[in-house]
Amino acid sequence: MLKLAVFGSGSGSNYQAIAEAIAADRLHAQIVCVFSDVQDAFILERARKLGHPAIFLDCAPFKTKLDGQAEARAIELIRRHGGNFIVLAGFMRIIKQGLLDAFPKRIVNIHPSLLPAFPGLEAGQQALTAGVKETGCTVHLVDGGIDTGPILVQRKVTIQPDDTIQTLMTRIHAQEHIAYPEALQKIATQMA
Ligand code: GRF
Repeated sequence: MLKLAVFGSGSGSNYQAIAEAIAADRLHAQIVCVFSDVQDAFILERARKLGHPAIFLDCAPFKTKLDGQAEARAIELIRRHGGNFIVLAGFMRIIKQGLLDAFPKRIVNIHPSLLPAFPGLEAGQQALTAGVKETGCTVHLVDGGIDTGPILVQRKVTIQPDDTIQTLMTRIHAQEHIAYPEALQKIATQMA
């Protein structure tokens, strides 16, 4: 059984979509805990409402990575809650070797572009600036790089001539909410 520890820094709409897919029996998994490196992130509020352990992970002194004591604490808490798989859902920190070694090939991420195109920050804006006709989202296994690692699911979004960053991101998000449960169910099926 997939027992998910979810990590997010912001709104948590992907986390919510995963929780809804589980409730609707479209995804055979369980969410065992939710972490955020941002104390007042909405994802923690959503977790409290949905009845999942909501954990603030103080990642200081690091600004852009999950390392050191915070990484060790995360590993300990995931294990304590029975987690066996990590879902990064808008987690704005780089995952380091300690967590990768603790959960080998068991960490996934979602990114708002058709990787390998437009990795890193502001992927939607990168696509608009590049003037491409199509972008989308990607669920992939996490390795040591930034938005690299084997791709599990991609969903496309057509860019309209009158798209703003807001209208485009709204449509990408809608596809993410389908892609993430789908990718996790693929993994659940492989594990069964
Ligand atoms: C998503 O666009 C995801 O692709 C990116 O961060 C965003 C998280 O959104 N990694 P939410 O917090 O799940 O609403």
